[in-house]
Amino acid sequence: MKRLQLGILGSGKGSNFVALHKAIAEGRLAADIRVVVSDIASAPILLRAKEFGLPAAALPAGKFRTKLEPEIEEELVAILRRNQCEWVILAGYMRVVKAPLLEAFAGKIINIHPSLLPKFKGLEAWRQALEAGESETGCTVHIVTPGIDEGPVLAQAKVPVLEGDTPETLHQRIHAAEHRLFPATLQRIAESPAGIEPLKAQPLML
Ligand code: GRF
Repeated sequence: MKRLQLGILGSGKGSNFVALHKAIAEGRLAADIRVVVSDIASAPILLRAKEFGLPAAALPAGKFRTKLEPEIEEELVAILRRNQCEWVILAGYMRVVKAPLLEAFAGKIINIHPSLLPKFKGLEAWRQALEAGESETGCTVHIVTPGIDEGPVLAQAKVPVLEGDTPETLHQRIHAAEHRLFPATLQRIAESPAGIEPLKAQPLML
């Protein structure tokens, strides 16, 4: 089986990155993490990457609030190429990715989102689900396309909303599901002889 060569992008805690790293170490995911890049120089995800001895780079986004300056996004593509990444994994990356990255890694950028898409796109999806009075929510792994949180779904896991949940307790339960779903989905890609296409037709449901 061909090992997936991953470039990981994240802005925060990096618990999904840690879950992927653990799955690789335990032989549950045939992949190599080639580089970890963050738009936030002080993000814990970069510290964890350095602890694991992985190449880690800070690439501040520039003047925009939600996206990268185009020249910076070109630089991001160069970093990913230089490190021989084949797949770009968004693990809590708080920037909207645009043409330079989308075109360089077309169909090979994978995101995890904390809701059952198409429900609750955008920020704090767990809070949106709680405020909408849902009895269940979850997480989704999908291919990144220009529309935010809109690309083809590869996998979903359901999570119950419990009596007395706060946004924090619900988010924690979703995080636990993400840590199972993300490695399992990437392993499915690694194992698929025909690549990612057939997986879109039959999303994994955990
Ligand atoms: C996760 O909830 C993920 O769904 C969202 O950002 C969060 C990242 O958490 N896209 P972490 O940095 O992996 O802990």
